[in-house]
Amino acid sequence: MKSSPWWKQATIYQIYPRSFFDSNGDGEGDLPGIISKLEYVQELGVDAIWLSPFYTSPNKDGGYDVADPRDVDPRFGNLDDAKKLIQVAHSLGLKVIVDVVPNHFSDQHIWFQQALRAKRGSAERARFHFYDANEDGTPPNNWISLFGGPSWTQVEDGQYYLHLFDSSQPDLNWDNPEVASDYEVTLRFWLDLGVDGFRIDVAHGLVKENLLTNHPDPQGISDALRLDVSMDPEIRYALLPTVPYFDRQGVHEIYRKWRKLFDSYKDRDIMAVAEAWVHPPINSTRYVRSDELHQVFNFDLLDAPFKSDFLYEVVNRSIELMDSVGALPTWALSNHDSPRVASRIGEVQARALALFVLALPGSCYVFAGQELGLPDGEIPDSSRQDPIYIRTKGVQKGRDGARVPLPWSGETAPFGFTTGKPWLPLTDKWKELTVEKQSVDPKSTLNLFRTALKLRADHLIDQGSIRWLESPEHGSKSSSLLGVRRGNVSIYMNLSDSAAEVEITGKLLTVSAGIVDSRDGKVTIPPISTVWVHH
Ligand code: NOJ
Repeated sequence: MKSSPWWKQATIYQIYPRSFFDSNGDGEGDLPGIISKLEYVQELGVDAIWLSPFYTSPNKDGGYDVADPRDVDPRFGNLDDAKKLIQVAHSLGLKVIVDVVPNHFSDQHIWFQQALRAKRGSAERARFHFYDANEDGTPPNNWISLFGGPSWTQVEDGQYYLHLFDSSQPDLNWDNPEVASDYEVTLRFWLDLGVDGFRIDVAHGLVKENLLTNHPDPQGISDALRLDVSMDPEIRYALLPTVPYFDRQGVHEIYRKWRKLFDSYKDRDIMAVAEAWVHPPINSTRYVRSDELHQVFNFDLLDAPFKSDFLYEVVNRSIELMDSVGALPTWALSNHDSPRVASRIGEVQARALALFVLALPGSCYVFAGQELGLPDGEIPDSSRQDPIYIRTKGVQKGRDGARVPLPWSGETAPFGFTTGKPWLPLTDKWKELTVEKQSVDPKSTLNLFRTALKLRADHLIDQGSIRWLESPEHGSKSSSLLGVRRGNVSIYMNLSDSAAEVEITGKLLTVSAGIVDSRDGKVTIPPISTVWVHH
């Protein structure tokens, strides 16, 4: 059964176009490549695809530096390819979500090129955040870019422009009505082409406050925003709400207007999901108020350890939080910005966690390659391309590891991804992980996902919420077992490396690893494994 509306409990497959499938041998994935693999995606059993940016871009930040948001970069194909992709996806029953990047443009966007040529104080500069230097020549404030280094870059006449990310990604000035109306043109452009929704990049960042004021602890907020910097949680949680460029009230006005635009496409069930890193967590619910967006990403599992008390907390809190505004949570174990889950917590653990999460209420985002159990790629520093690596002069390795192209077939790298040289190297160690190999192995991670997604649709969607059976606060088992009941299915995840026994009767639907022993009203769950049992 499908959920209603379609997005509410959808499984959404994130495709990073550059890394999916290369149709023309230039070493980079493209739209025709994606079209040729849509049947594979459909067979997986997902409801929708989310395409990371494929727009015209100098590609300084993997396409999140958009030079024309209403056209396709020639590296990926052209607008006809985009139209065809949407049509073919729809004919296969897949919805299509595209990324929009409203916080910034590329410095190659015509507006920014015009701004560079225009005078200080001009209408062209007012589309971005251009300010004069301080008297001593320093930038207007002390903010640090999320990619390292100052948030300001100086232009020839001495003014500075703001960029929260790379210097090639100037931030748009959302106080300027021209910016808002141009963005509406972009949204309509893609909706008229047939897309079903949007993933909104840096959705919490569009409005800035105190632009000309120094922050008392710029390094502190910069560290607090980074998942890879460890920090006393109290210090982190005290710093985060003081970030003057994130989660300001003004962003909600923008999404209220967008919602009206989406709803004007009657009967289309257009949806939008916000990429919003906010603190305290309750703030995330504001993005999904009934007159705003439909979903907000929940990033809590992206860096969660494989520990029952931690996972219990996250699952419970996420469900309760969204319930407070009548929404359902979203779940993601991997994306193009974070280490792949199989590398972070281990391959078997990642299978167990995926099977647990796929049973939960809400929408699940699956990052392409996750269904193959791919680890992060092994990348020599000389091949790295992420601006984070470049701007921090190698201090931070960046996100290329998660972006290595997918292995499709054959015995050696690049495993059918391209006939040319892949833009990031694949390793021969992935021989057993190809789609070709995994398709014919009933025990593969790929077949686990296929089975789980089918069972999820048949038995879990529209079954309401969960009831805890085992957790650090429920049931009688040790702290290494999590169990929930949803509808007629009991789901148990055994996090320990020894088998766990639970008293249940029913039919085993699936298991993430190992062999389940079930007799006399008892089920023995293999170590580091999740089972679904139907009653
Ligand atoms: C979030 C995107 O997911 C990331 O890849 C990008 O670098 C930043 N936003 C800037 O657009």
